[in-house]
Amino acid sequence: MKGIILAGGAGSRLYPLTLVASKQLQPVYDKPMVYYPLTTLIEGGVREFCLISTPHDLPRYRQLFGDGSRLGLQIEYREQARPEGIAQAFRIADTFIGKDPVTLILGDNIFYGADAFTQAFSSFSQGAVIFGYHVQDPERYGVVEFDRAGNAISIEEKPKQPRSNYAVPGLYLFDNSVVSIARDLTPSPRGELEITDVNLEYMRRGQLKVHRLNRGFAWLDAGTSSSLHEASAYVQTIEKRAGIKIGCPEEAAFRRGFLSLSALQTLITSLPRCEYRAYLESVADEGVRA
Ligand code: G1P
Repeated sequence: MKGIILAGGAGSRLYPLTLVASKQLQPVYDKPMVYYPLTTLIEGGVREFCLISTPHDLPRYRQLFGDGSRLGLQIEYREQARPEGIAQAFRIADTFIGKDPVTLILGDNIFYGADAFTQAFSSFSQGAVIFGYHVQDPERYGVVEFDRAGNAISIEEKPKQPRSNYAVPGLYLFDNSVVSIARDLTPSPRGELEITDVNLEYMRRGQLKVHRLNRGFAWLDAGTSSSLHEASAYVQTIEKRAGIKIGCPEEAAFRRGFLSLSALQTLITSLPRCEYRAYLESVADEGVRA
């Protein structure tokens, strides 16, 4: 399965933080925000990526990840010239997707407890798989409604009167028909190609599965100064308590077998002496002992 990371948008809600660095490059505790969604997809087994961002910000991402080979990945880059919707990503990346299924993750979505996705990734075969997560403020999101049997029966984008408290997080798995579905979409009243319209088309075809994420799972939003701060505090709390890192792509690539132990060790020697390096050294040491 191919992977798209969408890291576009003006980040206007984080101004002036976003004057020189885009939202998805802001620090969430000890690493750039985009490390978290990248790690989520690596954990899902994705190795080929297309990162989409604005012409202004794209050079920064290239600087961060290069062609991905250092991480045992392949990363291509594409421009989204204007913020014309999440579903535009499938038009922009159509040659990257080719004939494969594809997962899209938003560059500002942080998940913790990603075991929840393992099954969805490993068992994916066709149609679309999305998720539902109970939130206090569903009107800010795509909202999914379930019937008594747990089947998804409606999805609405940022409804004024939400029919449920289940928001749709920014992680979507699609078979290859997403390319033609996105091609045929027309912009919504807010002028965007809506991911919700893609999901509705799969629902119309009877091919949409919505997994409800359980209570032990964290989906964090980092789109405002407060939520960015809270996300950092959350990550710090877990990392300090457990002595592990959340959102560490090097570790995830190693554990997935995309990076050999010797490649990880070589990568480590290129890092400055810092806490991040010390952590990766402990991961490699554990690998030596295993
Ligand atoms: C977008 C989607 C929405 C989804 C959300 C998840 O919202 O349109 O359906 O629930 O991402 O983060 P936006 O980024 O436009 O606020």
